[in-house]
Amino acid sequence: MIIGVPKEIKNNENRVALTPAGVAELKKHGHEVYVQSTAGIGSGISDEDYTGAGATILATIEEVYAIAEMIVKVKEPIASEYPLIKANQLLFTYFHFASSEELTHAMLESGAVCLAYETVEKADRSLPLLIPMSEVAGRMAVQEGAKYLEKPMGGRGILLGGVAGVKPANVLVLGGGIVGTQSAKMAAGLGANVTIVDVNLQRLRYLEDIMPANVDTVMSNEYNLRQLVQHTDLIIGGVLIPGAKAPFLITKDMLKLMRPGTVMVDVAIDQGGCFETSHATTHQDPIFVVDDIVHYCVANMPGAVPYTSTLALTNATLPYALQLANKGWKKACRDNEELKKGLNIVHGKTVYKGVADAWDLSLTPVEDILGKVIVA
Ligand SMILES: NC(=O)c1ccc[n+]([C@@H]2O[C@H](COP(=O)([O-])OP(=O)(O)OC[C@H]3O[C@@H](n4cnc5c(N)ncnc54)[C@H](O)[C@@H]3O)[C@@H](O)[C@H]2O)c1
Repeated sequence: MIIGVPKEIKNNENRVALTPAGVAELKKHGHEVYVQSTAGIGSGISDEDYTGAGATILATIEEVYAIAEMIVKVKEPIASEYPLIKANQLLFTYFHFASSEELTHAMLESGAVCLAYETVEKADRSLPLLIPMSEVAGRMAVQEGAKYLEKPMGGRGILLGGVAGVKPANVLVLGGGIVGTQSAKMAAGLGANVTIVDVNLQRLRYLEDIMPANVDTVMSNEYNLRQLVQHTDLIIGGVLIPGAKAPFLITKDMLKLMRPGTVMVDVAIDQGGCFETSHATTHQDPIFVVDDIVHYCVANMPGAVPYTSTLALTNATLPYALQLANKGWKKACRDNEELKKGLNIVHGKTVYKGVADAWDLSLTPVEDILGKVIVA
């Protein structure tokens, strides 16, 4: 198969969808890989690194779209890319269709096959291509929180780990999922006193077992949160109710209970945020202050660490990209339920319920599409 890797052109997106290791793997299986010049530069990968692994560099994005049977990307295509997409071309990338009607209609009209990273799903309902970015964001939340706790940055001026004779900071982690677990590990590693709250008792039991001694677990409810916020220096919000807006666990009136200079990092901001006073911010302007409480609410945290994020993402996507390249998308999706769940839009038809529901579109059962063609 001919695989194309365009340079990401969305504002401030420095990740790239394939590394030289991925190119080498695809080449080993007999595929051709075309990479747009400087596609990897933001992640520290040069054109020479790609050619060394067997890729061919193309000067323009137009050439990449024109030649490729499968386009592998990171972010959803933006408007200037729509006309480049060919009918029957396979696009394997994050789409988040439910958040853009324009993108949904553009992809329906393109006739392309849109396989979305974010809906590839394992039998246990976990989302293997979202997990790596939650891991990055969870770890980064502590780093950002520690930075904004510094006095010149607007925080209380407390060191997370303390020093001999001085108590460490208290960190409260909302949600003990992927983000929360990674945050708790990092904060605990720096020596902070960490409390994780969750509504899932089984999850709390598990975390209690595996976390170091400076991590406590507490059931998440309003009463407990009101007690905890009074003594907390850094709050990290990592709750998720799948498919729904995040619940507001920290309401505006709770800010009055906190000490001035407390820092709150709302990782769940991409689902609307779990603090009532949150609104999405950018890496250029990441924080704002409400009632003396510093809010960090960047919706695309992994974008700030593209070296790490590119590798974390491609480690997870490459095995699926290989299946798609080796078998063609139809056979790969017939053979692998996880990939089948990734199909969102195929040849002008919506095949993913969440997308159909979001924009009131008719839903075509994915089996109708996969069943009709016998040979991919
Ligand atoms: N801002 C970013 O750049 C960025 C990056 C990655 C992920 N995220 C977001 O971070 C959020 C968390 O992702 P995740 O992968 O850790 O999800 P996850 O499903 O692994 O974990 C969510 C946890 O929240 C818990 N929870 C639900 N309701 C709760 C409540 N009322 N109180 C306490 N806990 C509650 C769940 O039981 C679960 O353990 C998501 O919204 C995700 O989209 C943001």
